[in-house]
Amino acid sequence: MTMEERESSGHALIVPYPTQGHINPMLQFAKRIAAHGLRVTAALTRFIANTTSPPPAAAASGIAFATISDGFDSGGFSEASGIPTYLAGLESAGARTLGELLGSLAAGGQPVTVVVYDSFLPWAAGVAQRHGAAAASFFTQSVAVNAAYCHLWEGRLRLPVTAAVEGLPGLLRMEPEELPSFFTESAAPYAVYLELVLNQFKDLEKADFMLINSFYELEPMATDWLKTTRPARTIGPTVPSAYLDGRIPGDSTYGVQLLPPETSACTAWLAARPPLSAVYVSFGSIAEISAAQTAELAHGLAAAGRPFLWVVRPSEASKLPPGFATGAAAAGGLVVGWAPQLEVLASGAVGCFVTHCGWNSTAEALVAGVPMVTVAQWTDQPTDAKYVEEEWGVGVRARKGEGGLVGRAEVERCVREVMEGERSEGMRRRAAEWKEAARRAVAAGGSSDRNVVEFVERYR
Ligand code: UDX
Repeated sequence: MTMEERESSGHALIVPYPTQGHINPMLQFAKRIAAHGLRVTAALTRFIANTTSPPPAAAASGIAFATISDGFDSGGFSEASGIPTYLAGLESAGARTLGELLGSLAAGGQPVTVVVYDSFLPWAAGVAQRHGAAAASFFTQSVAVNAAYCHLWEGRLRLPVTAAVEGLPGLLRMEPEELPSFFTESAAPYAVYLELVLNQFKDLEKADFMLINSFYELEPMATDWLKTTRPARTIGPTVPSAYLDGRIPGDSTYGVQLLPPETSACTAWLAARPPLSAVYVSFGSIAEISAAQTAELAHGLAAAGRPFLWVVRPSEASKLPPGFATGAAAAGGLVVGWAPQLEVLASGAVGCFVTHCGWNSTAEALVAGVPMVTVAQWTDQPTDAKYVEEEWGVGVRARKGEGGLVGRAEVERCVREVMEGERSEGMRRRAAEWKEAARRAVAAGGSSDRNVVEFVERYR
């Protein structure tokens, strides 16, 4: 009898922070532990459950869905007056309704044995304990970034960081601007985010596991260091199985989508492009790019002379310069409001990904074997970008110039460097190697798979 076939009385409740970049990695982890035989329920906020597409239940078969409240059921984050108000509502309404959910699942004969909570919700560990469930914290960002936050939490760094930091266990030498942005910008309005990322370590001793969305081979130094004091386990990359080991039947979709992806337009456009000829450009679900920066990007992309597929969210579209409009093929490119990013990266037509280096996008590029031009914006992105260029050798960092902008000439230079420059072949080769390493990590017996199995065995 295989492990998957054994009867399990274990029941994991997954509680993500309610944004796409946090929900999807946790749903992918949920699918993996469900495939190993654990019963899994995912708790989404009512707003997310009612508004994302496809509806969550369709996005992840094999997982039950339930709702909790963030106190803003009709509008989610945009209904709150700002991030502090939102986080306060999320904690008070979230803790109350999570407790109610745990109570009702137990009353219905399906008691939860472990609550897997997003590390941005440290209060969930106490709720789990009060209901007799174990707790495991899920960190969506890279191991290196979390190691940096851990050093700050433990007092090895002082803010703001103004000089290069060398010799921090687990980390490369870091210039101040290579650390997560809150190390140099920690005053309002960023203070609340700094508190959020530091509080990931609050009450962590209540958790049996510190699950991290990365894989050991990618970040051995930072993982080994974190493991000396924390139950750190890499379980990623959390990308649908179809793009990795293919072990979960039918697992080709990610989870929830913030906006409806323009799949047919993207697919048709990519199908007309020769292999590795196109540039894909996206800045994730949150970053707001200034009109001046958008114009520099537009002109830089056009000057690079390669066909480009550029995601500009509808809320950002008014910043596009003349000649570049959403839905229109212009200046050698197609601009869409939202793309099926993984499909695009894995299509074979994309030779370069111009990215803000959010951790999900970075991991997706590694899984698809696509080299990057990094245009980091804030939070963990500058650190991800440093590792992409220096440690993993799969990209070029675009440097800021006048006015703190990445200028058009720099955009053009970086795209050319990745597509046809001297280093291009090496980047492509290493990208292919990381793609294979990611696949091995999640495949049966790989480093991430062993950690997933350890988790399942503990609570089954
Ligand atoms: C945020 C932070 O910015 C990021 O740094 C952190 O690591 C996680 O939370 P976000 O900015 O949205 O996330 O970036 P990222 O982590 O890259 O996630 C974006 C997700 O949206 C990716 O999974 C990507 O595939 C998806 N996406 C993006 C689409 O599906 N379509 C698009 O058109 C653009």
